[in-house]
Amino acid sequence: MKIVESIISLNEALATVRETGKTVGLVPTMGALHEGHMALVERARSMADVVVVTVFVNPTQFTNASDLTLYPRTPEKDAALLANHGCDIAFFPSVDEVYPKGYQTPEIPLGTLDKVMEGEFRPGHFKGVVQVVNRFFEVIQPTFAFFGLKDFQQVAVIRFMTDYLQLPVTIVPCPTLRETSGLAMSSRNMRLTTQQLDKAVIIYETLTLAKSLVDTHTPAETKQLALEHFAHSPLKMEYFSIVNPQTLEELTDEWIPGATCCLAAFCGEVRLIDNMTLN
Ligand code: PAF
Repeated sequence: MKIVESIISLNEALATVRETGKTVGLVPTMGALHEGHMALVERARSMADVVVVTVFVNPTQFTNASDLTLYPRTPEKDAALLANHGCDIAFFPSVDEVYPKGYQTPEIPLGTLDKVMEGEFRPGHFKGVVQVVNRFFEVIQPTFAFFGLKDFQQVAVIRFMTDYLQLPVTIVPCPTLRETSGLAMSSRNMRLTTQQLDKAVIIYETLTLAKSLVDTHTPAETKQLALEHFAHSPLKMEYFSIVNPQTLEELTDEWIPGATCCLAAFCGEVRLIDNMTLN
């Protein structure tokens, strides 16, 4: 595996790949890698000739300065994991490398996609995600790009961006990996104490409860019962929405295929998100 830090070295590493027309699979990450990321790398390995992983804690998508400072950083461990899971090129750029002076990002009219759920509580977050993903697409020119469905709204936003800009890349959404407790794997779990890890299981329980109510209750009733269940836990719910998977508009009266329940909650200081397709 090659580790590169500059775009010049990245282009050198990709030169023969481009000349020979090989396919490139990109897995963008913010590091602090875990099994969930490795599943993305393995999926990329199974579909592309060359696998590129970016490890970059993107400052423009953080809406809270302390969240950015506290975001876990484990570059040596990340490099070792990537080397063992079939990554060909690991790109660890600096902020200046990703955003050179005067760098302009195209404006994408995200509409509702950027206003609800994460967009409501982290204004500007998706603008930052779109900025960095678009930048990596421009620099790496991947054939496929792999994203975890734990960030359900992010996948919807990136799909929209790709269609809007007519980018020649196939977005590959990958299922969420869970701990045996049901807790979704996340780099943020590293910040939870053992007790908090136990308490955080309420998130999965609540999603599972919501799924069990689909045949007998409307989306609005399901939400009500799920919120009542969640209220017994010490976690603090930020939002809970049952949404249309394409538009992310909230469903209240009728179920539609692919209706998805998304939530964000604080476990102590740590903000966790998760989702489940309900029908
Ligand atoms: O999902 C993430 O880890 C990030 O939002 C991404 C896609 C790597 C962009 O920084």
